Amino acid sequence: MVSLDTLFEAAKTIQARAYVPYSRFKVGAAILTPEGQVFTGCNVENAAYPVGSCAEAGAVSAMIAGGGSAIRAIVVMGDGEHLVTPCGGCRQRIREFASPDTKIHIAGPEGIRKSFTLEELLPFSFGPDNLTDR
Ligand code: THU
Repeated sequence: MVSLDTLFEAAKTIQARAYVPYSRFKVGAAILTPEGQVFTGCNVENAAYPVGSCAEAGAVSAMIAGGGSAIRAIVVMGDGEHLVTPCGGCRQRIREFASPDTKIHIAGPEGIRKSFTLEELLPFSFGPDNLTDR
């Protein structure tokens, strides 16, 4: 069984690998699947700024590429005094593979700072179910 500590350490390790020559703001994300697999991602920026990608997007891609299909919990890790909560687009990316009670843990280098559910960060969300009504 993967502990929250393990997920935190995975996010910290991948955060260090972020490619951030423009913002200098490193973010790491670690996803735990219901099967106990851990998938990680970091932000990867680009000289064409809008092409850069978030840590959470990388972690979701790694999960899909690695055969995972659901998010049980995710740790997002960033520096500074403010909570590094997922951006709007990444909340939606997480939502695709999560449930309303999926935990989103926001961490700084010292540990988990605050934990939310997906429902708290993205209420009344649009998801795959909306498209089954057609
Ligand atoms: N960033 C993430 O990786 N995840 C978030 O949820 C917020 C922002 C990245 C994008 C960019 O590389 C840097 O942080 C500054 O916005």
